[in-house]
Amino acid sequence: MTFRTLTLCTALIAAVTVPAVAQTTAPQTPLRTPDVIFVPTPQEVVDAMLEVAKVTKNDVVYDLGSGDGRIPVTAAKKYGARAVGIDIDPQRVKEANANAEAAGVTANVKFLNADLFETDISQASVVTLYLLPSLNVKLMPKLKAELKPGTRIVSHAFDMGDWKPEQTLNVNGRTVYYWTIPKR
Ligand SMILES: C[S@@+](CC[C@H](N)C(=O)[O-])C[C@H]1O[C@@H](n2cnc3c(N)ncnc32)[C@H](O)[C@@H]1O
Repeated sequence: MTFRTLTLCTALIAAVTVPAVAQTTAPQTPLRTPDVIFVPTPQEVVDAMLEVAKVTKNDVVYDLGSGDGRIPVTAAKKYGARAVGIDIDPQRVKEANANAEAAGVTANVKFLNADLFETDISQASVVTLYLLPSLNVKLMPKLKAELKPGTRIVSHAFDMGDWKPEQTLNVNGRTVYYWTIPKR
């Protein structure tokens, strides 16, 4: 085989295999249209959400629609909690992983590229939300069915229809709502 033929073969193999590998390891488009766009929670509101939930190192914090990962990363960095972020948009998951890496918390935090409505959340002891009023109401039956009694839920900006919150905070003009899953 001449050097030219060898070079051509290598280029062809790369053309066939590299995009396939790239696609399976780093999908670039959301699994489906996101239910809500990415808007980050300001850091002082993140801090207040984790404080009202009294997060400790014994908690498993799930952020449903985790964006750039700031809530799971803060839960791990500030409180030593384990945390899981779920986001339908792979670009957000990529950013969240980079932020976890930069904060040195990758051992305690993982991000899943998944639909929050289709993901098992039963291991959570704290759930955080910044979605929309209609999505909170749609999510409520899943929260009540899957989460253990006593699990704390915190939502930035939006309540949950007729499920009255136990606490409501005002953080620099932003509202934070807090509930716990009742005994069955
Ligand atoms: C308003 S942002 C909140 C981000 C983050 N939780 C925060 O408070 O900074 C909502 C996020 O939910 C994601 N999202 C929308 N629909 C989703 C779904 N069905 N499953 C998972 N993530 C979803 C969006 O991609 C977006 O990153």
